[in-house]
Amino acid sequence: MREQVVVVTGASGGIGRATAEAFARKGCAVVLAARREEALEVTARECEKHRGARALVVPTDTTDAKAVEDLARRAVEEFGRIDVWVNNAAVNAFGRFEDVPLEDFRKVIDVNVMGYVHGARAALRVMREQGGHGTLINISSIVGAVSQPYSHPYSHPYSMSKHAVQGLGSSLRQQLRVEGVKGIRVCTVMPATIDTPHFEQAANFTGRKVVAMPPVYSPERVARAVVDLARHPHREVVVGPAGRALVRQARRTPALAERVMARQTDRTHLSHTEDAPATHGALHVPAPGEGAVHGGWGGRRRTAMRRTAVAALVGAGVTAAGRRISRGVLAA
Ligand SMILES: NC(=O)c1ccc[n+]([C@@H]2O[C@H](COP(=O)([O-])OP(=O)(O)OC[C@H]3O[C@@H](n4cnc5c(N)ncnc54)[C@H](OP(=O)(O)O)[C@@H]3O)[C@@H](O)[C@H]2O)c1
Repeated sequence: MREQVVVVTGASGGIGRATAEAFARKGCAVVLAARREEALEVTARECEKHRGARALVVPTDTTDAKAVEDLARRAVEEFGRIDVWVNNAAVNAFGRFEDVPLEDFRKVIDVNVMGYVHGARAALRVMREQGGHGTLINISSIVGAVSQPYSHPYSHPYSMSKHAVQGLGSSLRQQLRVEGVKGIRVCTVMPATIDTPHFEQAANFTGRKVVAMPPVYSPERVARAVVDLARHPHREVVVGPAGRALVRQARRTPALAERVMARQTDRTHLSHTEDAPATHGALHVPAPGEGAVHGGWGGRRRTAMRRTAVAALVGAGVTAAGRRISRGVLAA
């Protein structure tokens, strides 16, 4: 991975910042894009702490096609090529279908779909020009495979946009195959719930506080999956065992998966005790501040607790099996 050039959109916080840092740790040059320059500078400083890593900050609104073209141009001017492009910048709007203002609905589609289209076009152009080499990684979500309730509150434009990202990945792979382009790979990442500021930055018209739906995984886990994909590209990766189970279920028994997701979302994605005023969140104007990787939902702690619990269970199982075997040996 050393010396590879990686562009990450949405690098001012959350999964994007964690991903940029993970590539920097491998000695890659990272090109950081999002709207907040101050927060991108923080990401750049974190990245440059790693030996050999170089970072370039390019404030970019991904809904602006020309700005995204400029981002690609700056990356090539500075580092000579683009090996990996990570389309990651996204926003969310929670609310019943009829309650989310149309301007917010449109904005989610604009950032999460057209932002990815702009990124994919810019990346593919450069990758073709440099001789047909590179990896495009689109961050989708498990809701790209399993819809959150559509007959009930919550995040219709987001689910729609993530289904579109799945479709974009699939159709691009097919086009490249038909064209016989073997060196450009297109991958889709589907994380389950991740501990980032995403939920606080979302628009919310439900009247209830948005809560990260458990189980929650760490953004570093997604970042590792993205780095692994850059090394060994393949079609789609789900991050988080709970997400894998849900996606498997959605493929085998879609009606059941919709019912499970609807109930789970209603019970655990919105607070039953805390109200929230209507807000456009960070959809149209970015949240102030330096950005953060984590959202305070305990992804890292919970992952560690889950691992400890699994290790304890496995340990107990091994001990019990050992006791049974030694009793058997003694009896024999
Ligand atoms: N968190 C989860 O549970 C979860 C689960 C599954 C999938 N995902 C996906 O993972 C990706 C990252 O999510 P996250 O949780 O890290 O979210 P996040 O913490 O809210 O970060 C979103 C990033 O997108 C940037 N952004 C928003 N609008 C933009 C625009 N118009 N132009 C450029 N950048 C823009 C934000 O920066 P600025 O505000 O500075 O522009 C920020 O860097 C998204 O694609 C999301 O859908 C997240």
